[in-house]
Amino acid sequence: MRKKIVAGNWKMNNDLQESLKLFSEVANMVKDEVSNDAEIIVSAPFTNIYALDQWKNGSDIHDKIKLSGQNCCWEESGAYTGEVSAKMLKSIGAEYVIIGHSERRQYFAETNALLAKKVDLALKHELIPIFCIGETLQEREKNIHLDLIKNQLQEGLFHLIKSVVKTVVIAYEPVWAIGTGLTATPEQAQEIHAFIRQLIVEGYDEETANEVSILYGGSCNPSNAASLFSQKDIDGGLIGGASLKSRDFTDIIKTFN
Ligand code: G3H
Repeated sequence: MRKKIVAGNWKMNNDLQESLKLFSEVANMVKDEVSNDAEIIVSAPFTNIYALDQWKNGSDIHDKIKLSGQNCCWEESGAYTGEVSAKMLKSIGAEYVIIGHSERRQYFAETNALLAKKVDLALKHELIPIFCIGETLQEREKNIHLDLIKNQLQEGLFHLIKSVVKTVVIAYEPVWAIGTGLTATPEQAQEIHAFIRQLIVEGYDEETANEVSILYGGSCNPSNAASLFSQKDIDGGLIGGASLKSRDFTDIIKTFN
């Protein structure tokens, strides 16, 4: 059985105090209300991960919520002012790292080739990549979205060997649904998730495809999470806006209760 996952991506929100407040609220709600064994991940700004890890270690939730970075550098170390390496992230308690979020692709011109290097470094330092893919509205309207998704996977991820690729998490995020309130319908999302899983079958095999968790992201909230997560190939969500509210984020996690 592949892992069910609910990952919150706080993006560039929450200073240190706000992060500690939100994280502790979520942790307490999770402890009292969540009865499922979905993996819960919080992807916080770099500056706050260490403090969250320290807080976590001193609390009774310990390992229930995993920490993630939102990006890492494509190089191991060196003269890359402002960058943060996979090794650094690992050393402060992160267990996952988001790679290739559409905002990185759009605002920082990150290419599939560059992302493939980040994936390799993340894995080298025992971070699980949450590899993001997805099309813009224009790409969908031009009907080139399936080819685009195929390229994103083939160039960014499919260089990995079978035993490694099955440890990676994929997040499908249609760019037109991110932060817009426009959610893909469960059927639209399922269609793409099934397509992604089929690409893994073609690139590897059925057994591998069945082991990879594929998350949906894009205006996911407590009202639509259940219908999205009940789709056959949707294994959970990568949650932006709704992960900034402890009540909403916990309610999304409770979808799997
Ligand atoms: O990483 C999360 C996604 O970009 C979704 O963001 O839930 O605010 O639409 P959103």
